[in-house]
Amino acid sequence: MSYTHTEKAGNCGDVVKHAILATIVDYLVSRSKSGPFIYVETHAGRPVYRLERKGEWQAGIGLLCSNLKSCRASVKEDLERYTTLCLAEPPQPGSEYPGSSGLVFQMLKSLGRPYRFILCDVDSAVIDALMGYFPQWNQVTVCRGDGFEMVRMIGKASLVLVDPAYMDTEADKRTALKTLKLIKKRKIPLICWTPRVEPPEDSKDEPVYPSYEREVAKEFGSISFKWPEPESKGFSGCHIVVSEELEEIAGTTADKIREVMGWSLK
Ligand SMILES: C[S@@+](CC[C@H](N)C(=O)[O-])C[C@H]1O[C@@H](n2cnc3c(N)ncnc32)[C@H](O)[C@@H]1O
Repeated sequence: MSYTHTEKAGNCGDVVKHAILATIVDYLVSRSKSGPFIYVETHAGRPVYRLERKGEWQAGIGLLCSNLKSCRASVKEDLERYTTLCLAEPPQPGSEYPGSSGLVFQMLKSLGRPYRFILCDVDSAVIDALMGYFPQWNQVTVCRGDGFEMVRMIGKASLVLVDPAYMDTEADKRTALKTLKLIKKRKIPLICWTPRVEPPEDSKDEPVYPSYEREVAKEFGSISFKWPEPESKGFSGCHIVVSEELEEIAGTTADKIREVMGWSLK
């Protein structure tokens, strides 16, 4: 399926994903202090985006920026790892917003941690952007191809981000579940973001995400978000899977995001 993230950069889904990702990276880096941090992405996207004039960022990072001013200190503190890098300047059309790989790269650099990146995407324009951004070739491997296949070859990593932009069908669901179980079996910490997609109004199909969420909750930390208004493509919210050991810290950041964004629980 063809997909471009550009008009969605900085939207509600990115705020959720990137704020929780920043919390997890910070936690894992502080937990294991030696050796390179090996970071893997199956669906990398671009390392950095430019916010578009009518982009979805206004309901995401734009809203976060204005709401944060009146937030409790503990909320600001929890989200600081994310906001330091993603909200250094107030967001506006034309300003930069980091993609997940750019965010983790900037975090590891500022923490002074050696790193190794393995990044996969199917889109050749995205691959060019990744190769232009990452300067040290021996530490960063960029692969063009199916990220679900690529991750099967990874034996050891500090963290894997699985970020398919869609999960519309039972087949998408089975592929995602199989991949998550494989990563778990290899004892690799993981985070996975998926959209909650409502089928079209005239469709007789059940939405895929409720059964996915039920299944992942048996084996992983599972966190759901619901937006006040559905986004384009019928995204009514999103879902985050994390390794069980990461559920508590991810859940704390999730609560802070809901509070600052004014979102209800489910
Ligand atoms: C949601 S975007 C990634 C966003 C990025 N991880 C971030 O948070 O900034 C999804 C990306 O997956 C890529 N993609 C789609 N299908 C793929 C597949 N089977 N394997 C690898 N990449 C894929 C798309 O080209 C797109 O760049």
